[in-house]
Amino acid sequence: MSQLLTWFLLTTVTGLQMPRPNIVILMADDLGSGDVGFNGNSTIGTTNIDQLAEDGVILDQHLAPASVCTPSRAAFLTGRLPIRYGIAANGTRVRVNIWNATPNGLPRSELTFAKVLQKEGYKTALVGKWHLGMNHNNNHDQNYHPFNHGFDSWFGIPLTNIRNCADDGGSVLVPGGQYVLDGLRLVSAALFLVLLLLNALQVLPWSLTKIIIIGSIPNIGGVLFQVGFHYTMRFSSCQLWKNREVIEAPYSLDNMTQRLISEAETFLDSAATSDAPFLLMLNFLHVHTPLFSSPAFRGKSVHGRYGDNVLELDWAVGVVREKLAALGLAQNTIVYFSTDQAGHNEEISASGERHGGYNIYRGGKGMGGFEGGIRVPAVISFPRENWEGGWRLKQATSMMDIFPTILSQAGVSTEQFSTNTNGEANELDGRDITALLNEGSKENPSVPSPHEFMFHYCGDNLNAIRWTEPQTGRVWKLHYFQPSWDEGTEGCASILICGCYGPFIEIYDEPLLYSLNEDVMERHAYDSSSLANYTTVVSIMEEGFNNWRSSFTKPPSIYTSFNALPRPWLQPLCDTFPYLTC
Ligand SMILES: *[C@@H]1O[C@H](CO)[C@@H](O)[C@H](O)[C@H]1NC(C)=O
Ligand SMILES: *[C@@H]1O[C@H](CO)[C@@H](O)[C@H](O)[C@H]1NC(C)=O
Ligand SMILES: *[C@@H]1O[C@H](CO)[C@@H](O)[C@H](O)[C@H]1NC(C)=O
Ligand SMILES: *[C@@H]1O[C@H](CO)[C@@H](O)[C@H](O)[C@H]1NC(C)=O
Repeated sequence: MSQLLTWFLLTTVTGLQMPRPNIVILMADDLGSGDVGFNGNSTIGTTNIDQLAEDGVILDQHLAPASVCTPSRAAFLTGRLPIRYGIAANGTRVRVNIWNATPNGLPRSELTFAKVLQKEGYKTALVGKWHLGMNHNNNHDQNYHPFNHGFDSWFGIPLTNIRNCADDGGSVLVPGGQYVLDGLRLVSAALFLVLLLLNALQVLPWSLTKIIIIGSIPNIGGVLFQVGFHYTMRFSSCQLWKNREVIEAPYSLDNMTQRLISEAETFLDSAATSDAPFLLMLNFLHVHTPLFSSPAFRGKSVHGRYGDNVLELDWAVGVVREKLAALGLAQNTIVYFSTDQAGHNEEISASGERHGGYNIYRGGKGMGGFEGGIRVPAVISFPRENWEGGWRLKQATSMMDIFPTILSQAGVSTEQFSTNTNGEANELDGRDITALLNEGSKENPSVPSPHEFMFHYCGDNLNAIRWTEPQTGRVWKLHYFQPSWDEGTEGCASILICGCYGPFIEIYDEPLLYSLNEDVMERHAYDSSSLANYTTVVSIMEEGFNNWRSSFTKPPSIYTSFNALPRPWLQPLCDTFPYLTC
């Protein structure tokens, strides 16, 4: 309230007309950099997103803080890399929340930009996907609920849309082939029981049986996990919430995008009648699998079901923009459009249709180093008097920059976010890019990126360092490892998504250095034998990293193997019998 008062006095006393901007965040899920017209896709038909790009600025070298959902979304909301607060997996396959009933989420001590804006008098709404946790100690504490991270209202899903949530029998664990694998594992489990029986009948020696039993435990565990996941997921984790209640479980995908948009429109209608500025964060379920679209978009794209999903996403962006215009809000609303990470190359349907996006660059979702996984399509439209859009900002920017940038636009002083909710120093990794957006246009390409260094992690494992060399503007990238790809491919289809440690990566003997100015596809690496100043460049980059890394202590990861398993007593439920469905 006091901020509002200060603001009021400031604008009244000084007589300045400085209305605080509204903020609309449009966040897709797993959209490829090459899935939009503004990045050169001539057949996809994203006319509304392209119009936004024409009215705004295309962030050409925009980097996601992580290559999977939970850490990337956490970093986006906090402006800080996930390694600072434990959402960086340390040697576990699981890197994101995969059930509603785990005790993992965005720590309450972290400050989101929604929380800061709410405190500054903004009305804040979240529509769509959360994926940053729910309960911690019991099934109703809602410790990680969006309401505890700065949102006044929420309509959406606590986890993520996954194959198990569609009613077509698909499963995320083994896309397309789950029945075969379940079958094989069940056969092996049955065999194991037969062996036990034979042993009990003293047909087999105990020493042999013991070996078989020990060898079978992982497989039996695998069967239980696989079968458990497959058959309970829809009921435990495909929930639709309104504010503090589960309103539909399992949810129906039939007109999901229309329902999200309808909620967003209702919020905008009420915000338009209020004097307070607003933040609307609209996190789409598109274009993550399972692909779904309403009848109006089915079969409309030349790019199959994936393309239909992109078209519906584009339609939704258009509806929001039209609504802003109709309510007279367009001139005072910052609109940011992006995706939590890039397209998921391994998403191939059972019938062999490509269900993942097109990433222009090498690599994809799950790979923490290569551009393909982390360089995301992004636009920011920044309407102010005498401000010109319609150009491409080439300098390196991060999704984490949105935090300080929108707060500076909202006139929030940095003291308001210099400490977290525990009163500890709140070091941001994001940078205010207002100067770039003001002056970094094609007429003035020399404004440097505020990120001399950027650090690209895979889980808690440093995958690559990016350095924009101040003297030359050259962008160097130093890679320490690459995923252990399936033979003959550059993907990890056999395990759905690439991993970040141990058997899932190949560590280079000598780190590989790429110059993105000539080689944005990261195909022609330098090493100490092919670049005269390799050692100089590498030591500058490693010093940049060490200086940053030694400035904080890394907490343990929230993703222990134990925490990855669901805990029935944390399962959020519907209000009415039979509780798992409503
Ligand atoms: C456009 O996007 C679709 C869907 O990802 C992709 O299959 C196609 O290759 C893209 N086309 C171009 C020209 O980038
Ligand atoms: C979605 O579909 C349901 C059931 O057909 C209908 O009641 C509801 O009005 C629809 N919502 C929107 C926003 O279209
Ligand atoms: C290293 O060499 C490259 C190519 O000759 C040059 O462009 C770059 O400025 C040099 N950088 C440093 C730090 O020596
Ligand atoms: C990460 O895992 C390794 C190996 O299990 C362990 O030694 C290390 O202490 C862990 N680090 C953190 C910060 O949890």
